[in-house]
Amino acid sequence: EDSERGEHEHFLAKEIAEQPRAISQALRGRIEERFATVHLGGLNMDVREARAYRRVTVLGCGSAWFAGELGAQMIEDLARMPARAESASEFRYRNPVVEPDTLYVAVSQSGETADTLAAVQELQRKGGRVIGVVNVVGSTIARQVDGGIYLHAGPERSVASTKSFTSTLVAFALLAVHLGRMRDLSPADGRRVLDALAALPSQVQDVLDTERETGTVAAVAAELATRESVLYIGRRHGWAVAREGAQKLKEVSYVHAEAYAAAELKHGPLALVGPELPTVAVVPDDDLFDKNASTLAEIRARRGPIVAVGHRDVPNAGRTLVVPRSEPELDPVLLSVPLQLLAYHAAVALGRDVDRPRNLAKSVTVE
Ligand code: G6P
Repeated sequence: EDSERGEHEHFLAKEIAEQPRAISQALRGRIEERFATVHLGGLNMDVREARAYRRVTVLGCGSAWFAGELGAQMIEDLARMPARAESASEFRYRNPVVEPDTLYVAVSQSGETADTLAAVQELQRKGGRVIGVVNVVGSTIARQVDGGIYLHAGPERSVASTKSFTSTLVAFALLAVHLGRMRDLSPADGRRVLDALAALPSQVQDVLDTERETGTVAAVAAELATRESVLYIGRRHGWAVAREGAQKLKEVSYVHAEAYAAAELKHGPLALVGPELPTVAVVPDDDLFDKNASTLAEIRARRGPIVAVGHRDVPNAGRTLVVPRSEPELDPVLLSVPLQLLAYHAAVALGRDVDRPRNLAKSVTVE
């Protein structure tokens, strides 16, 4: 094990650091520059079939579900198909309406999660076409689905998923452009996203290098590790990033964290806000920047400490963890990295068993 971890003390740190390479591997051979299209050989889906789908439903558990939320947003934005994500475990306990013009996407790092597999099988029993977004080649879900996209992220050993999360976002961006280019996405818009994808590995490397030089995230983590609870907020893409960020902190540091859609704050959790409850706010420099800034003003007015993650200093935040800007669809990849580091450093500061958090398993193969 020691030799596999290389220079890193934990697999979690190693896997966070491996993200530039994992993203490159997810992209390798899949972008057709000339036509701004995407080649996904494992999908086995021709234009006629792709155009016949009217909706997309994405299923997964844990981080795979949160990645699926972002994936659904990318498909809706770029392919202009109504798309939603649902926890695979909830899905299987409903009696879902399975429609022939819905494309189902099952997301799983391990390809072995029992709830996700059960959802796939139930869908197939009802005639649904399910494709996979899976990391482990030849895994049960990979074999069960009707085609799909492999992440090629390499083995992920730490229980908390990191490189598989960001690689899943990359796979969804490819899928969204692929579907979009067979529908209404223009070559120029396709190229905009594909160029941004190609730039991601070095941008993620920048985030990692900045932290290595400054230790800013580690310092923030040491502070948050002393708290009982942390609130994570964001809007739209930022909310899904916040959900994954809160999940990471809970999983590896055991500090309670809850993610809320920023606009929902005033419908409940604002009652908790005060000097004792820090907020981590995901605030990209997008059309919602001012809305997010005014939410932060409300938190500040109640003396709630704020750490922001964004593209420039965010008003009312005590500190902003700044990441490079991508295109809006792909900003979540970069915004997620400081939140992974935050959870990691909080866990280290608290002396947790970083790679094997108590009560959790890397893949949950029982119900
Ligand atoms: C477990 C892991 C999570 C993971 C989830 C789904 O709960 O602890 O990190 O996100 O399973 O796993 P999968 O392999 O299906 O992506």
